[in-house]
Amino acid sequence: MDSRRFGFKIAKVDFSDDANDPGEIVSFLKEKEFRLIITKTICEDIPLINRLEKLGFETMDFQVGYDYYVKKDTGSAIKFNSDFPVHAIDPADVEPLVILAGQAFDGFGHYFADKRLDRKLCLEIYKDWTRNVCTNKDFAEIVYAAYDEGRPIGYFAFTERLLNKVPIASGVMGAVASSYNGKGIFQSLLARGVEWAAAKGMVLKDMKVHTTNYPINTAFSKLGFRIGNSCITMHCWL
Ligand SMILES: CC(C)(COP(=O)(O)OP(=O)(O)OC[C@H]1O[C@@H](n2cnc3c(N)ncnc32)[C@H](O)[C@@H]1OP(=O)(O)O)[C@@H](O)C(=O)NCCC(=O)NCCS
Repeated sequence: MDSRRFGFKIAKVDFSDDANDPGEIVSFLKEKEFRLIITKTICEDIPLINRLEKLGFETMDFQVGYDYYVKKDTGSAIKFNSDFPVHAIDPADVEPLVILAGQAFDGFGHYFADKRLDRKLCLEIYKDWTRNVCTNKDFAEIVYAAYDEGRPIGYFAFTERLLNKVPIASGVMGAVASSYNGKGIFQSLLARGVEWAAAKGMVLKDMKVHTTNYPINTAFSKLGFRIGNSCITMHCWL
């Protein structure tokens, strides 16, 4: 998908398997005319991170994965911000949410951190991803939005997926329009996700956020999440 978007070959590689030599993989991809490798590595694996650095990989972001740790049956006790009701999206909300994403995600994440990538195309990733989560169940099972007088002003998509071969409930992506920041809207959306997972007998896990996204880290901490893992995203141009 990234290769088509940016117009050259991009590989997403997991280097965590000790059986594979990172240097050999990089040489192989170079031979196959890939121009960019993107990888995520757990922060505990310093030897691998240092090896990748020596091969020319550069840090593009740091993320932590939050797990909900309050008991399942207390999930529904979380309060919602009643000024901005939250419910599952309607088809008419899709394009307004794509526009919202185009504003909220400008400059966000490892694509934008890489100055060699076209900024307009980076933004298209988040807009397309938003359209996909809103319209395609392969991307998200449910998308909740918060509304101000019927207009969607924030959203959060959730889905079930596998983590280490175990099914988990998790978030996919979310954002709140900047003019509404700091009003607890993201927390209302997250609380709805906690309830959605609880109704399935699950808890939200591995909710990835950037370590430097301070408002969102505050929101997760306030709602009873704790950090379960952390990772670093690196890019290598060939
Ligand atoms: C991050 C984002 C989702 C937050 O939405 P929001 O509705 O403003 O969040 P909330 O108001 O529910 O919670 C934010 C909390 O962080 C606090 N906060 C704000 N700035 C902060 C900072 N610099 N450091 C620490 N906490 C901060 C707020 O005061 C609030 O806490 P409070 O309820 O105790 O006052 C929104 O800014 C956004 O969409 N950003 C761009 C896209 C993004 O980051 N998406 C999430 C990743 S997928």
